[in-house]
Amino acid sequence: MTEGLTRRLGGRLAFGGDYNPEQWDEAVWKEDDLLMRWAHVNLATVGVFSWALLEPEEGRYDFGWLDAHLDRLHAGGVAVDLATPTASPPPWFTLAHPDAMPVTDTGVRLTHGSRDTYCLAAPAYRQAALRVATALAQRYGDHPAVAMWHVHNEYATVCWCDHTADAFRRWLRERHGTLDAVNEAWGTAFWSQHYGTWEEILPPRATQWHRNPALALDFRRFWSDEALAAYREQRDAIRAHTAADRPVTTNLMLPGYQVLDLWSFGREVDVVGIDHYPDAPGAGAAADIAFGADRARSFGGGKPWLLVEQGANTVYTADRTLPKEPGDILRHSLAHIARGSDGAMFFQWRQSKAGAEIWHSAMVPHAGPDSRIFREVADTGAAVARLGEVAGSLVTAQAAVLHDSDCWWALDGQGLPSASLDYHGELRRAHRALWDAGITADFAHPEDGELSRYRLLIAPALPVLSDTAAESLRDWVHAGGTLLVQHFAGVVDTNHQARLGGYPAQALRTALGVRVEEFRPLAADAALRLSDGSTSTAWSESLRLTGQAEAVAAYTTGMLTGRPALTRHSYGAGTAWYASTRLDDAGYDALVARVSAAAGVGPELPLPAGVEAVRRHAPTGPVSWLFLLNHTDSPATVEAAGHDLLTGRPVPAAGLTLPPGGAAVLRQE
Ligand code: GLA
Repeated sequence: MTEGLTRRLGGRLAFGGDYNPEQWDEAVWKEDDLLMRWAHVNLATVGVFSWALLEPEEGRYDFGWLDAHLDRLHAGGVAVDLATPTASPPPWFTLAHPDAMPVTDTGVRLTHGSRDTYCLAAPAYRQAALRVATALAQRYGDHPAVAMWHVHNEYATVCWCDHTADAFRRWLRERHGTLDAVNEAWGTAFWSQHYGTWEEILPPRATQWHRNPALALDFRRFWSDEALAAYREQRDAIRAHTAADRPVTTNLMLPGYQVLDLWSFGREVDVVGIDHYPDAPGAGAAADIAFGADRARSFGGGKPWLLVEQGANTVYTADRTLPKEPGDILRHSLAHIARGSDGAMFFQWRQSKAGAEIWHSAMVPHAGPDSRIFREVADTGAAVARLGEVAGSLVTAQAAVLHDSDCWWALDGQGLPSASLDYHGELRRAHRALWDAGITADFAHPEDGELSRYRLLIAPALPVLSDTAAESLRDWVHAGGTLLVQHFAGVVDTNHQARLGGYPAQALRTALGVRVEEFRPLAADAALRLSDGSTSTAWSESLRLTGQAEAVAAYTTGMLTGRPALTRHSYGAGTAWYASTRLDDAGYDALVARVSAAAGVGPELPLPAGVEAVRRHAPTGPVSWLFLLNHTDSPATVEAAGHDLLTGRPVPAAGLTLPPGGAAVLRQE
């Protein structure tokens, strides 16, 4: 539901960022007004961490300063995404409610001095958060500047305290009904873990050896639900005081964020909002943006979404923050918009001069507006301002990667047969293989009731599988779908209990025509060779073919020599492929290309290597917009005609040459 936002932005896409005027003085505010106009900023996220200023003492509010900023922004034509400040309780809160400070799994109680320090399950925190959110909504629900609401910031803190234990037990009663059912679901006959009363159940705190995996999985589900409940409380309080066309959302951190089940958040927010910071430079950044953007769109059921934060000059690698290269600010912004974002926002407008994030980049850097970064930001603002007509348009995909938080949480657990079972890595690799092939992909939940919109599904990591999901995948293949399932799939049910009689779950075995009998994880430095010339690492499985399944490649080294490694099974009108080992990247890309071709799924148009093409369609009618992004250092020629919104010029049938790092947005009928 970005319509209301777009309308309040005068039919334009959103462009702007987090704005923290409380860190500056009047002279700077005046400059901000000028520079925002210069950079075509039309939306500012205000108040994200302002709790201590808004409520200097418990129950006493000071809104005067915020009134002045909202009025000033409104007068300057900048709409506001008004945030509730609840991600950073003030110091008075800690002193008044020490029991609401989070406790780590090792029993350490944290305190203020940073941010995100609260226990979501503590009644005092929840009441205080709801109170300040309600006060804001009452005061600003009708303010003409407010175009959108931003609840909290990146729900991420996890707590193991006694309040959490109480809330966990309540959640377990809801989910399982009786204590007997909990004991049964968790298999507590193992290691003397039988629970005789509810009070004996604890969150998964530090303990001597591996935790019960079913308890650990339920705790992850519970905590995500607890965060969702906290979000909904604030959302509902805001909705009671503001017009329905001002969407309420929270910013979800992507891509490596696994505290929350983002599918359930996607159902509860009016617009999916994400924060995305690429984790690699160059093509790696482009692939990572596509990965984050396709997930954002999918969590919202395909609707337009919003990039709420990106860094102006920030590429976060494991141990350092790399700069962006010239042109990246525009190309990265367009890459998100291409995949369905109705705007491009940043953290933050002006780089802070004090505090823990003084080195985090911003639209206006410490150097001021006479800087490469600000010039690129302003150019990007001008470019985004030309794209208003794409607002509300949709991206469709024929391929999807199956994605389920339960699977991520399970592979994040203890006691697994190999440390190289990497959920996030496999999910990204599957998406990357499709992205490299130019194929636009969604993500889909295995229990998605409308899989029929896809021709190709890839399940790169699917250890937890319900009977319902296994049956729906089987039926989808039977009806004509092409499915690729990778190793260690369907090995446990939703209570983390092993599938008996051979893996994976029965219905998926039927579709795949395989029965896995034994896992054979590989040593860290070991590799296997396959009969198709590829190599594999990390994992292998001893399996038997059933039905009409055939071996596409066999193992040619090790104990499994001669046995099937990759299989294919024609089932009903569809085909199901199984990879029982982790192929090297070249072998994997070749397999994905082969399976995609068999499914009849390909790129938007033939493209030179390193050029990305994504299409957004008008919700009705024949108009679409083809986004072309050249991620290489050389010019690239693309045969596509239309009207380029970025240059305002027609592009003839012979096509166009994108400069190195260049982009085009072609309106096509
Ligand atoms: C996050 C937060 C912001 C800020 C930026 C810094 O995504 O939401 O408040 O900390 O990162 O990059």
